[in-house]
Amino acid sequence: MQKSVLVVGSHGTIGNAVTKQLKIAGYEILTISRSQDSSLNHLNIAMTEPESVEVMEQWLAERAENLAGVIHCVGFLHDEVRGPEKNLKQLSADWLNLSMHVNVISHIHVAQALNSLVTQQSNLRWLSLSAKVGSIEDNGLGGWYSYRMSKAALNMFIKNLSIEWGRRAASSSVIAMHPGTTPSGLSDPFIQNWPKDKLYSPDLTAERIVSVFEGMSPEGTGKLYHHDGSVIPW
Ligand SMILES: NC(=O)c1ccc[n+]([C@@H]2O[C@H](COP(=O)([O-])OP(=O)(O)OC[C@H]3O[C@@H](n4cnc5c(N)ncnc54)[C@H](OP(=O)(O)O)[C@@H]3O)[C@@H](O)[C@H]2O)c1
Repeated sequence: MQKSVLVVGSHGTIGNAVTKQLKIAGYEILTISRSQDSSLNHLNIAMTEPESVEVMEQWLAERAENLAGVIHCVGFLHDEVRGPEKNLKQLSADWLNLSMHVNVISHIHVAQALNSLVTQQSNLRWLSLSAKVGSIEDNGLGGWYSYRMSKAALNMFIKNLSIEWGRRAASSSVIAMHPGTTPSGLSDPFIQNWPKDKLYSPDLTAERIVSVFEGMSPEGTGKLYHHDGSVIPW
């Protein structure tokens, strides 16, 4: 039976490339995003809203029989008007709140929707795209308060989830991953001076994500991975 993978945030740059890469690798694809899509296996929903959990749960219950795992690609850094903070003065409750909603709560709600499907026999893989700048240990530059704080919160969520699901389902694995700097709507305003040899195409980034996903194991659960497969300190 063909295995399926759920891609959340499937209509962003990396999410879209991951979806293509998974199809090449032979998986059936389920997708969730806030974007419309006429595909039968797509759910269009505002996953930051609490009401979305029940809808996603029902939608997944009808489709998740052969689910191998989830790759959650949703993330937010700036909008058309505002960018990440350069200093403390620019930090505001509303921007932090928005960052937490998109970067953390969208991941929590999808995990809650899947929770009842994680049983003792389950070997589900969960991979959330995080960011190296969310590592507290790695932070040498400061700035980008809300993005860094919300990704650090996502990292703690992933650690907790790996422990809870790991107790219930010893074969499950739950990780966060830094995808590497990739041109996208999220990164474009910040990559003009970025070294070209450290800027990776969406297709290369997607290949790396699928490779890390396929290499996931219960022994390696509860960690933040670099796109080269090494572990980044939390
Ligand atoms: N690109 C990089 O250099 C880089 C580096 C480090 C980490 N990352 C992480 O990689 C992930 C993918 O980023 P990307 O580069 O592909 O960026 P992107 O093209 O801007 O995609 C962002 C994704 O997040 C979704 N999203 C944004 N705001 C949302 C909201 N309010 N509610 C629901 N969904 C929302 C978008 O949904 P729609 O498709 O519906 O718009 C899209 O799927 C993010 O978690 C990001 O933090 C990226």
